[in-house]
Amino acid sequence: MTQIALIGGTGKEGRGLALRWARAGHDVAVGSRDAKRGEACAAELSERSGKPIVGGGNEQVLRSAEIAILSVPYNAHQATLTGLRHALAGTILIDITVPLAPPRVRQVHLPAGQAAALEARQILGDDVRLAAALHHVSSVHLADVDHPIDCDVLVCADDDDTRASSMALISDLGVRAIDAGPLRNAIALESLTPVLLYLNRRYKSSGCGIHITGIRAGNVT
Ligand SMILES: NC(=O)c1ccc[n+]([C@@H]2O[C@H](COP(=O)([O-])OP(=O)(O)OC[C@H]3O[C@@H](n4cnc5c(N)ncnc54)[C@H](OP(=O)(O)O)[C@@H]3O)[C@@H](O)[C@H]2O)c1
Repeated sequence: MTQIALIGGTGKEGRGLALRWARAGHDVAVGSRDAKRGEACAAELSERSGKPIVGGGNEQVLRSAEIAILSVPYNAHQATLTGLRHALAGTILIDITVPLAPPRVRQVHLPAGQAAALEARQILGDDVRLAAALHHVSSVHLADVDHPIDCDVLVCADDDDTRASSMALISDLGVRAIDAGPLRNAIALESLTPVLLYLNRRYKSSGCGIHITGIRAGNVT
């Protein structure tokens, strides 16, 4: 059982992650800029999942976290991380941010630091063990908790322990977590999401995802 804190957990992606991890037996805390919004969201998700989920301010929920998830829009990424830098020290942070540039969300947008995750590394330094993942899992699928998620999850991080811990937790969502190498590879992972958003519109889907072929089942750990 892992103590998980979801920064921006009141949003579309955070809510589905909270539900699925709570159902998998983890201790989940939903964070918000507004502690009362975090508490209200947690109460609603607890009722829905039948599992205890707590909520509060983003900094507050980080106090007991072993693994934190950053789930805010890209335009809030830098300010959120700067404000929480000290509270995040010592945790593993999985950054799921896609650097979209509205209104052109179906076109790849490379941010100044090439990837949100690389920008996070610049802001946080080495005190936070950083991974990037979950860019291709639609919130629509996450919310549909009685159905398995039809998507592989590519996970990148610069050290093996951080990548392995992140992959183990992500596997508990019921997906195949795949080692996608160093954090720099987040440039490619983040860049694929606008393409999936394009495919959603082009093929009238609510949640295109990815499957990686050619990996033998016995080789996924
Ligand atoms: N939605 C998807 O299908 C999907 C899939 C893969 C990856 N992602 C990525 O996951 C992240 C979250 O996506 P989402 O769809 O859940 O986003 P969202 O619902 O728009 O926002 C998530 C939460 O971020 C907080 N937030 C919003 N604006 C903020 C600001 N200016 N400063 C600080 N916090 C702010 C809000 O929480 P409070 O108001 O409670 O603080 C909000 O509930 C994004 O980076 C997105 O690219 C999303």
